[in-house]
Amino acid sequence: MARTILIIDDDNESREVVREALDGRGFQFLEAENGDAAIELISTHDIDVATVDVMLPGTDGIEVLRRMKELKPDTQVVMLTGLNAVDTAVEAMRLGALDYLTKPIRLKELRVVIDRAIEQKKLSEERDEWRRQAARLSGRLLGRSPAMQRIFHMIEQVAPTSSTVLITGETGTGKDQVAREIHEQSRRNNKPLIKVDCASLPESLLESELFGHIKGSFTGAIKDRKGRFEMADGGTIFLDEIGEMSASAQQRLLRILQDSELERVGSSTTIHVDVRVIAATNRDLAQRIIEKKFREDLYYRLRVVQIQIPPLRERREDIPLLAQAFLKRYTEETQKQADEFSDDVMEIFYSYPWPGNVRELQHAVEHAVIFARNRQIEPRDLPPEISAGQTPLFVSKEEPVHQDGKNILIPLGMPLEEAELEIIRQTLTSVGGNKEEAARVLGLSRSSLYRRLPKLREGEETA
Ligand SMILES: Nc1ncnc2c1ncn2[C@@H]1O[C@H](COP(=O)(O)OP(=O)(O)O)[C@@H](O)[C@H]1O
Ligand SMILES: [Mg+2]
Repeated sequence: MARTILIIDDDNESREVVREALDGRGFQFLEAENGDAAIELISTHDIDVATVDVMLPGTDGIEVLRRMKELKPDTQVVMLTGLNAVDTAVEAMRLGALDYLTKPIRLKELRVVIDRAIEQKKLSEERDEWRRQAARLSGRLLGRSPAMQRIFHMIEQVAPTSSTVLITGETGTGKDQVAREIHEQSRRNNKPLIKVDCASLPESLLESELFGHIKGSFTGAIKDRKGRFEMADGGTIFLDEIGEMSASAQQRLLRILQDSELERVGSSTTIHVDVRVIAATNRDLAQRIIEKKFREDLYYRLRVVQIQIPPLRERREDIPLLAQAFLKRYTEETQKQADEFSDDVMEIFYSYPWPGNVRELQHAVEHAVIFARNRQIEPRDLPPEISAGQTPLFVSKEEPVHQDGKNILIPLGMPLEEAELEIIRQTLTSVGGNKEEAARVLGLSRSSLYRRLPKLREGEETA
């Protein structure tokens, strides 16, 4: 998605300077030569970053900034001011501008600031998305499997403490949700829960994002800035995808865990913070340690308490409960009448391997509710890759899957017994139905092949 930059300046040439400095980086540009035109554009377009000249005729830059923050608080604003207007710049920062640059604009500085503004915009989108999800899923963590029961119990025990928690599990197993639950059940729940996705930030920004920086510590560090740890003071920080942290960020993190202290990037002043750390990863940290990508001492610090969430396919007992809860949620949201799953759908849900875990199940239900034709949800309402799991035995005789005659395709997660039948079926197809030949190819006696054929036919009838 192309990011949109709005350039607000009454001077043609100044606008051109900005546009040219940022040219060739895939941005879309909009321009306005006065405040009113700018405000119009802001309300009608999705703008990621605006550069605002302070000295505009009519509605001035500060007023534009104020309106912009009301209309679209997420839009990042960079003020451009004359050298003699530093007071205004300070006022602008107070009103929520990300930064200011003094004219004449230095191109390199502008680029750095714009990049940072885009990063900031992405972060706030992510935070929004997370908040939306959290609000929408104010529903609790569900599960009746023994594994989930154990997890509930652990959450209850660990939440009131300030222990560091490491949550591991494949993507979509509920790591975010468990982190939220721990925070909610803790005494810190009236203080912020701040999430940082360590994988989505470039290494260069992660450290300053987490620990803050002081003015001048690197190009683009135009003012002092608090990091997320300081923002989370008194509350909880959730470090997602911790396996992706750089070595020096790991070092700083270790210091926080040991001494509750940090220094902002570029500073030697020690700041004390009281933050509970919850970390999550879908990677094998032990492996990362062997590869020397993750500090062993940090690993032991983090996993004081470890919550391991098994993949959904290993706790299928949770599927009906989750599916039902998601169904209720989405029918309420969409006002659709669908309120139950057909037996066939439940069977598919049971046998499908769910590589995307609970998240995939949730999306499947959402999809099904949208496409449901009747009160009862049918396999055809499911996303195709999932409903295909309904008929794993079905291979059209006209179109053998293994056209080169060499490979047999077995979907991941197909039960062994069915896979065996599938192998037989595809072999038969490839030899034109010649059972003797098929038996030979499979290394079976004719009689053992014949014994399996009735099952094959059964499969066809239900398919
Ligand atoms: N046990 C559960 N009960 C209810 N909802 C769940 C459960 N596990 C996961 N979810 C939901 O599934 C989706 C994915 O979970 P998330 O916590 O984002 O997974 P992860 O962080 O492991 O990728 C979220 O919408 C979450 O609310
Ligand atoms: Mg997650």
